[in-house]
Amino acid sequence: MTQTFKLASRVFHRVRCPPELGASRGSRGSDSAPRGLADIPGPSAPGFLAELFCKGGLSRLHELQVQGAARFGPVWLASFGTVRTVYVATPTLVEQLLRQEGPRPERCSFSPWAEHRRRRQRACGLLTAEGEEWQRLRSLLAPLLLRPQAAARYAGTLHDVVGDLVRRLRRQRGLGAGPPALVRDVAGEFYKFGLEGIAAVLLGSRLGCLEAEVPPDTETFIRAVRSVFVSTLLTMAMPSWLHRLVPGPWGRLCRDWDQMFAFAQQHVERREAEGAMRSQGKSEEDTGFGAHLTYFLFREELPAPSILGNVTELLLAGVDTVSNTLSWALYELSRHPEVQMALRSEITAALGPGSSAHPSATALSQLPLLKAVVKEVLRLYPVVPGNSRVPDKDICVGDYIIPKNTLVTLCHYATSRDPAQFPEPNSFRPARWLGDGPASHPFASLPFGFGKRSCMGRRLAELELQMALAQILIHFEVQPEPGAAPVRPMTRTVLVPERSINLQFVDR
Ligand code: HEM
Repeated sequence: MTQTFKLASRVFHRVRCPPELGASRGSRGSDSAPRGLADIPGPSAPGFLAELFCKGGLSRLHELQVQGAARFGPVWLASFGTVRTVYVATPTLVEQLLRQEGPRPERCSFSPWAEHRRRRQRACGLLTAEGEEWQRLRSLLAPLLLRPQAAARYAGTLHDVVGDLVRRLRRQRGLGAGPPALVRDVAGEFYKFGLEGIAAVLLGSRLGCLEAEVPPDTETFIRAVRSVFVSTLLTMAMPSWLHRLVPGPWGRLCRDWDQMFAFAQQHVERREAEGAMRSQGKSEEDTGFGAHLTYFLFREELPAPSILGNVTELLLAGVDTVSNTLSWALYELSRHPEVQMALRSEITAALGPGSSAHPSATALSQLPLLKAVVKEVLRLYPVVPGNSRVPDKDICVGDYIIPKNTLVTLCHYATSRDPAQFPEPNSFRPARWLGDGPASHPFASLPFGFGKRSCMGRRLAELELQMALAQILIHFEVQPEPGAAPVRPMTRTVLVPERSINLQFVDR
């Protein structure tokens, strides 16, 4: 990482932006030489650090995107700790940057995670792999997860998990003070749902996270996911020499990843043993060994350490993302009963009232309001508020040449709350995705990223969200906690609610 930032500090003046890369879109004439890193405005490093900590620390990084754009314009340069990065905050410039990607885009935003793999001699999964290794994994996993038909194959498995979620929500009502239908900390419930869902898809087995007694090892896994996101930002910001003096964040990050690997290893080994039984002539029913992702990876003869690295990283990727999005979706629907009612009508018209029948993935993906609600929730609360890229060649962004190896942050939170793109940007208005009002720039809201490195779990996540929302709204009217104040998002590497969301699930 250090080398990255040394290289990034070189200043380039000579490269010219070819017109097809949009040089003339900037504010300067197209014949003037594009400018280098030294010309990019931004706060001084101590100033930015002070600002970060006065404004609530790293948890307010997403808001600093909006403030940075207002103060410095669409491109600025800032450092926190050892991280020096160019922020890009308009959809046009985000598009310009992403369209210059090479065949193996590098994200590098999770570099402490890759460092953990290196030190523990673990194989990287798709999230942390780079270069040729990443490309090999990507071409193996994409047909198994990313194609719509591939994700649809898991609809039956997910339907059972959603059924358990509905039963668990019923059981969790009224467990503390407050109205009898109140469920406290819905994100905590949806974490269990996220883990149960992704584990069922990856391992073909049920963990029991949605049962009355949650198995202790799944509680440990969920705690580790939450905690690793906290230590990630801190370890990225600290220079490596400081890790020796202040070992806490790095130590916690390693402990959390070790726990997640141990959890995944236990389950993958169980699957492997069942696979061996199967090859000795036992039937699929005897072994419970059906079609699941780990099985496909074994069949592709991916080396065991790599299977483990991928399963561990996919488990992590599948938990926080789906659970927070579902929490925000129900939070907004509870505060917009008219949208909730319209959505319920759309769902019951398609599936039949009171239906718990297994809806096909295609049927759900064709419900326009359901799709619009998910899009609007991800616009307001993009799980990844600031994605990143490290270009492998010098690239043009507006008036600037960004040297290769520079860390560039794509300000998805700022672009998706930009009033020029989305009128009343802080309001929940799913109708904006249904042709009500001007269309936004296609790169203004990019919750799943873009291009060759975009989210591998997108189809699965959309399916899980659509199935869970459909069943929850069929069974319950979701209402806010009486008198509850609005909940704001905060950055914990990913965007999460800053405090518990409590909601009432009233029987229909
Ligand atoms: C609402 C749910 C989700 C959101 C908003 C989301 C968002 C994202 C984003 C923004 C990226 C970075 C893309 C880029 O760099 O262009 C990403 C990458 C990734 N996501 Fe998701 N994600 C979600 C759910 C999931 C799920 C359920 C899985 C697991 C199956 C998953 C697995 C991954 C993986 C493996 C990558 C790395 C892909 C690569 O580097 O090639 N995601 N996700």
